[in-house]
Amino acid sequence: MELPFGPTSEKQRMMLESKAKITIVGGAAGSGKSYMMTMHPLQHVGDPRFNAIFFRRTTQQVSGQGGLFDTARNMYSQLPKSIEPRFREKDYRAIFPNGANIKWNHMEHESDRISHQGLQLI
Ligand SMILES: Nc1ncnc2c1ncn2[C@@H]1O[C@H](COP(=O)(O)OP(=O)(O)OP(=O)(O)O)[C@@H](O)[C@H]1O
Ligand SMILES: [Mg+2]
Repeated sequence: MELPFGPTSEKQRMMLESKAKITIVGGAAGSGKSYMMTMHPLQHVGDPRFNAIFFRRTTQQVSGQGGLFDTARNMYSQLPKSIEPRFREKDYRAIFPNGANIKWNHMEHESDRISHQGLQLI
């Protein structure tokens, strides 16, 4: 499927095409890390069982203007209508028509990890 957006740097391309289970990437402010990570799960949302979760330290980094949720909403609203997700603000979730799910969450305190124990996430 031809998407209206895609990688614009070699780093983004490498990251999107990587088959590694764990990829670590850095880069200067504004170098496209968040944008790339928002594109990344779209490779898998054709699978109705797909569940992904993104963590930032604080909720503000998720929900603020220009935060990851906002970035995703702007990007995913460009998808063809048949696969465009609806965005649920109350729990920062994108729900695709086939049931695939992407969620954004904070992970501020060490104890926050307990809330996510046992989830089946890819
Ligand atoms: N592949 C792309 N296509 C279109 N726009 C892009 C692409 N990659 C990055 N951008 C644009 O570049 C800007 C900076 O990207 P992004 O926010 O992802 O950087 P960042 O590395 O996460 O920065 P920071 O470290 O400040 O969080 C954004 O406004 C984004 O829209
Ligand atoms: Mg960023």
